[in-house]
Amino acid sequence: MSNRLKVTPNDLSAFWMPFTANRQFKQAPRMFVSAKDMHYTTSDGRKVLDGTAGLWCVNAGHCRPKITEAIQHQAAELDYAPAFQMGHPIVFELANRLVDIAPKGMDHVFFTNSGSESVDTALKMAIAYHRVKGEGARTRLIGRERGYHGVNFGGISVGGIVSNRKMFGTLLGGVDHMPHTHLPEKNAFSKGVPEYGAELANELERIVTLHDASTIAAVIVEPVAGSTGVILPPKGYLQKLREICTKHGILLIFDEVITGFGRLGAPFAADYFGVTPDIMTTAKGVSNGVIPMGAVFVKKEIHDAFMTGPEHMIEFFHGYTYSGNPIACAAALGTLDTYKEEGLLTRGEELAPYWEDALHSLKGEPHVIDIRNIGLIGAIELAPIPGSPTKRAFSAFVKAFERGALIRTTGDIIALSPPLIITKGQINELIDHVRDVLRSID
Ligand SMILES: Cc1ncc(COP(=O)(O)O)c(C=O)c1O
Repeated sequence: MSNRLKVTPNDLSAFWMPFTANRQFKQAPRMFVSAKDMHYTTSDGRKVLDGTAGLWCVNAGHCRPKITEAIQHQAAELDYAPAFQMGHPIVFELANRLVDIAPKGMDHVFFTNSGSESVDTALKMAIAYHRVKGEGARTRLIGRERGYHGVNFGGISVGGIVSNRKMFGTLLGGVDHMPHTHLPEKNAFSKGVPEYGAELANELERIVTLHDASTIAAVIVEPVAGSTGVILPPKGYLQKLREICTKHGILLIFDEVITGFGRLGAPFAADYFGVTPDIMTTAKGVSNGVIPMGAVFVKKEIHDAFMTGPEHMIEFFHGYTYSGNPIACAAALGTLDTYKEEGLLTRGEELAPYWEDALHSLKGEPHVIDIRNIGLIGAIELAPIPGSPTKRAFSAFVKAFERGALIRTTGDIIALSPPLIITKGQINELIDHVRDVLRSID
């Protein structure tokens, strides 16, 4: 075993881990040291079935040869090129390949390095777009309760997860929120999109009436909210949001950081629901999570509105040192090749019914108060332990890891989102692990 793998608890203090119970982790560390296809291997040599595609990102599975080779080759050929006022061929190739698979009309791509950066890029683009069009009063941003749009200031301002917001001051001004669409009293144990709740989209009309459309730049929603515990849009809800935004000249932003790249069985949620936004934020699956990358897709009208003024002038004062980094681009091209060769962007469609049945077979198991599913996403909501919210789900997570499955929990909800290469046998295995865990926890 190499020195790298001999990590003892005494070595763990320097790293302040993100979104982690640091003290608990460091008492009983959970370490992965390698991965292949659907499995991780732990530092004590156990195989763990990946029920979450890492963090909703490893859609093509782990250590896939096309991606590894592309990265290795690119690192030896052109490691870095300045992102501002310079280019390199594969960033243009990648943008074209992405536009080819994007919903019709989304013709331009702006590169970032994460979902959070994609979100803040999209919000800035929306405000700047109205300004270049002569509507500089349109600065308000509308998000949604329980929305997750990353951790930067724009994202937490439009987001709606209390613990991600309450520690960080007053956030952006001029932000309002629509209600979330989680209605367990009416929709519990729905299979796929729930029946009830489309009328919640009318809350946007109320907000528009309050502030006046002329002050509102954009509405941002996750078509399916993932990080907040898998909340699905009720039938017809997204269509209504689209209609209201169009009617009032408000841009509609879909945050597709988790729904993009095949998660629902279609390339994007916009395709799945037949609703095209004006701007679409992505990250994660664009490069299979292997090298950090994000991509913001934009309609032609929005891009073209910036292309005015003297030609030597920068049109949009925004970008990152690593926007379109060559190695990230190589990883993304290897990822797109893998998706294409294996049909992964639509594979979820054929597996979804099997996935749905397997998930819903957990109905009636201890603690389960709701099950939700769409594409290759699933959520099992547990009754919280009175006075100790989140504890039950966290125990489930730790037990599942010990038994050989990686699951994810937020609040008291278990969220599952396996790599899109999962087999039916592995679906059974994953669900059996969850069943055993539910039967073994208090
Ligand atoms: C919908 C959505 N937006 C934004 C983000 C933030 O992405 P990142 O962690 O890459 O910044 C996430 C991450 O899970 C997400 O689910």
